Amino acid sequence: MTVHIGAQPGDIAETVLMPGDPYRARWAAETFLEAPRLVNEVRGMLGYTGQWRGNRVTIHGSGMGMPSLSIYANELIRDYGARTLIRIGSAGGMQEGVAIRDLVLAMTASSITNPSRGIFREVNFAPAADWSLLREAARIAEARGVPFHVGGIHSSDIFYEERDDLVAALTRHGTLAVEMEAAELYTVAARYGARALAILTISDHLVTGEALPSEERERSFGDMVEIALETAFS
Ligand code: ADE
Repeated sequence: MTVHIGAQPGDIAETVLMPGDPYRARWAAETFLEAPRLVNEVRGMLGYTGQWRGNRVTIHGSGMGMPSLSIYANELIRDYGARTLIRIGSAGGMQEGVAIRDLVLAMTASSITNPSRGIFREVNFAPAADWSLLREAARIAEARGVPFHVGGIHSSDIFYEERDDLVAALTRHGTLAVEMEAAELYTVAARYGARALAILTISDHLVTGEALPSEERERSFGDMVEIALETAFS
């Protein structure tokens, strides 16, 4: 057991899917895994381990924002031996060509700051996805006919962004979408030599102001879980 995870040694699989919302972790585990077993519920952050097509997998919530994700990613990798971590979440679109419901595979994740920022002092470390996961996710999304984009995203500490100039500068530099966790996930994974990828569905749009109706969120979340599982084990 760690400070934030009540699982016993061996309870966590080498492959971990990480939705932000713990209830989504439960839904995904109950919907897609065989014999899902609750392995963590400390502070209501649910984690389940089960089987998918004969492969052992854990689906564990990350919470919202980089400080929360950082705690779970550190403990899952360092203390429980997780080696492949795939974030499945939502993001706000930042380019006209990135539509609501589209998938974004985050190749890189910029941020103003993140919990690991202090380590690097003057260096602007570039958090990047694992290439093998990124390539597989793109191949699988293409084969399924799901509209997807691969490129840079922004990991923000602020959902209700006040700075129009920041959004404009990021958009002008081709940033595809904004979310709140990937930069720290990629940095923590890099620290331990683990593989990481963020697969994101566009749920709202900073340029067009559109938003995905809530009943469609569940369906697109399910598609993401399937793509993440196929990616992890292909
Ligand atoms: N996740 C989904 N939409 C978002 C947005 N607009 N900003 C930050 N995180 C998000």
